[in-house]
Amino acid sequence: MNYINILALGDITGENAVIKLENKLRDIKNKYHIDFVIANGENAEKARGITKELFDRIIASGVDVVTMGNHTFSNNGIYVINDDRLIIPANIDDTSLNKGYNTFNCKGAKIFVCNLMGKDCVPKPKYNAFKVARKIFDNINDDTIIRIIDFHAGFCNQKRVLAHYLKDEVSVIYGTHTHIQTADESILYNKVGYITDIGMCGPINSAIGYDLDFETRRFVEELKDDSILSKDTNCMINGCIFKIDIKTGNTLEVQRLSK
Ligand SMILES: [Fe+2]
Ligand SMILES: [Fe+2]
Repeated sequence: MNYINILALGDITGENAVIKLENKLRDIKNKYHIDFVIANGENAEKARGITKELFDRIIASGVDVVTMGNHTFSNNGIYVINDDRLIIPANIDDTSLNKGYNTFNCKGAKIFVCNLMGKDCVPKPKYNAFKVARKIFDNINDDTIIRIIDFHAGFCNQKRVLAHYLKDEVSVIYGTHTHIQTADESILYNKVGYITDIGMCGPINSAIGYDLDFETRRFVEELKDDSILSKDTNCMINGCIFKIDIKTGNTLEVQRLSK
C-alpha cells in the first residue's frame, strides 16, 4: 500500500475519556483502517497534565504518540514519563524534557511528529512557535517524508497562518486546545491536511470538559477558583483522520471523526 492512515485525537480530558479509548479505540482503528494514532494527553489527569499511569494506559489503548500543550507541567507525572512516545511543545521552555518532536516508523515509512504551542495559551510558551518551527524544518532529514504538527493554540488565525508558513514542509497541521471540533477540515495547496481544531476526547455533558454547575457559578458569581473536571462518564471521541501518500508526503484525504 502506498498510503498511510493517521488518526489524530483531541485533548484527552479526564480518566473517563481514557476508559472510553480503552473500550473503543481498537474498534475505531479497525473500522477506519488506521495505521498510526497521535493523541493529545495534556488534560488526562483531572483536566490538568498527565501521569505515568495514564500515559501507559493511553498507549496500551492503541495510541502510538502522545502530544501535550499548556498543561504539560500541570502535573509532576510528566517528569517520570521517560518515553520517546511523549512529545511536549518544542517552544515551551529551555528545559524541555525532549526536543519537541520525534520520528517514528510505521509501514516502512518515517513519520515525523512535532508539537508546538501558541502564544495565547496560559501559561505562555517561552519561544515563538513560528521561529522554532522554521528552525526545526530547516534541519530536518530529507528522507522524513511524512510530517505532522499538533499546533496547540486558541486563536484560529495563527493555526491557519502556520499552515501557510510551513506549506512546503509539512503533510498535516491540525489544532488542539480549544476542545471544540471545527468544520474546516481541508487539503490546502493540494497537499497539506488541515483542520483548525480536532476537538476533545472527554465528557459530553460539560463545558469543554469542565463541570457545568461549577462553571455556572464561576460565571454568575465570578468565582476566582479553577474549573473542575466534569464527572460525566459519557465521553465523546473527537479527532481527524489523514490519509497520506507515503512517497510524496501529501495528504490525500481528510475526514473528521466524532464518536
Ligand atoms: Fe486541552
Ligand atoms: Fe490546552
